[in-house]
Amino acid sequence: MFVSKALSINSKNHLEIGGCDCVDLVNNYGTPVYVLDESLIRENCRLYKNAMDKYYDGNGMVLYASKALSTMAVCKIVEQEGLGLDVVSGGELYTAMKAGVPMDRIYFHGNNKTCEELELAISNNIRRIVVDNREELKRVNDIASKQGKVVNISFRIKPGIDAHTHDFVQTGQIDSKFGVALENGEAIEIIGEAAKMKNVKVAGVHCHIGSQIFDLEPFKLAAKVMLEFIAKIKNEIGLEIEELNLGGGFGIKYTMNDDPIEYDHYIESVSKVVRSVCEEKGIKLPFIVMEPGRSIVASAGITLYKVGAVKDIKDVRTYVSVDGGMTDNPRYALYQSRYDALIANRADAPKVQDVTIAGKCCESGDLLAKDIKMPEIQAGDILAVLATGAYNYSMSSNYNRIPKPPIVLVKNGKSRVIVKREDFDDIIRNDIIPEDL
Ligand code: LLP
Repeated sequence: MFVSKALSINSKNHLEIGGCDCVDLVNNYGTPVYVLDESLIRENCRLYKNAMDKYYDGNGMVLYASKALSTMAVCKIVEQEGLGLDVVSGGELYTAMKAGVPMDRIYFHGNNKTCEELELAISNNIRRIVVDNREELKRVNDIASKQGKVVNISFRIKPGIDAHTHDFVQTGQIDSKFGVALENGEAIEIIGEAAKMKNVKVAGVHCHIGSQIFDLEPFKLAAKVMLEFIAKIKNEIGLEIEELNLGGGFGIKYTMNDDPIEYDHYIESVSKVVRSVCEEKGIKLPFIVMEPGRSIVASAGITLYKVGAVKDIKDVRTYVSVDGGMTDNPRYALYQSRYDALIANRADAPKVQDVTIAGKCCESGDLLAKDIKMPEIQAGDILAVLATGAYNYSMSSNYNRIPKPPIVLVKNGKSRVIVKREDFDDIIRNDIIPEDL
């Protein structure tokens, strides 16, 4: 009945997550508050890891794409589950390092890593730098040379596959800021150059074809295209590529209409494609890396808000305003993303009306959902927006100088804070009034 199995309704008719009553959570921690179910995160990690063992003899590694939600506690949980980590900035790398994730399990992505970020990564012996472009290749080689090291790199390749998803989150085509393209020869050329450099070793190739994908076919096609490319590298450059990283992008259930692929099934199908293309092309079975982000954490999270004004504009629309909005979840404003929501203090109340849920920012586009079916709603009700574990906190902002909500981790009826609520002093922390002002 819910989009996520982390959720249930208790005898008080309140929404429960991880054995915790959402009304109690709100009484203890205030609103808005992000709540994360620890068990479901762990279960999702295991799903991927076990499937990799089962269908590909464990000859691979699952990385959690930490851009979905990077906090020290979340990094620690996925590390304990045996996953590696994909980071895309010095900040994400630092978070992972401080959480104790071993450097030999971290991959560094991004289309414009700074010299400082690369120095931090290389001096700490990161497992892999996924090189995006020629300028970066040169930078990595120079920094490695200064530090007297040989750095293992892979290349972000645009395989030219159009996975049907929202434009803003589509990254596999030639017209993308990420990586080097196959079809115009750019990719083979840069790998040829890297093969001659002294302080880098080309260990792998990587692609990521998009996000929130529900179809298996583009993933299978991407694996095939990338393996053909690996065969081409072997034939033309004489280099054997050991690692194929297929990125992330697996869709999740945001609303009851969404029907995601079983991740287990994805790994089974892709493994088959990999084995058959390798045999056909006469290349070695590569070490497979995959990078799920959203599908590890999204369904484990909810956001709880307090309802304020309810504005019923006759024959137009009913606006329900909450005490958060685009600052804690900008995904509707950015992508018109759809979410399911309910009233946590009357969790099984029938959905009888269409409402639009608005945030508290000074911005007409600050909505969380438009025209969704909801029960009767009054001021003071607790609104739960579901499946907010990914790309909510990580994309949050302080627009309108609104402090960020805390993250509370729940498990077996226990709750603990993993990110503190910001207060107004946090808001002005970096402000300076110069003495001569
Ligand atoms: N690997 C790479 C190289 C990526 O660029 C991404 C996502 C992932 C893995 C993880 O993809 P996932 O499994 O989470 O779909 N802010 C957008 C999503 C942007 C995703 C960017 N890259 C959203 O809120 O939908």
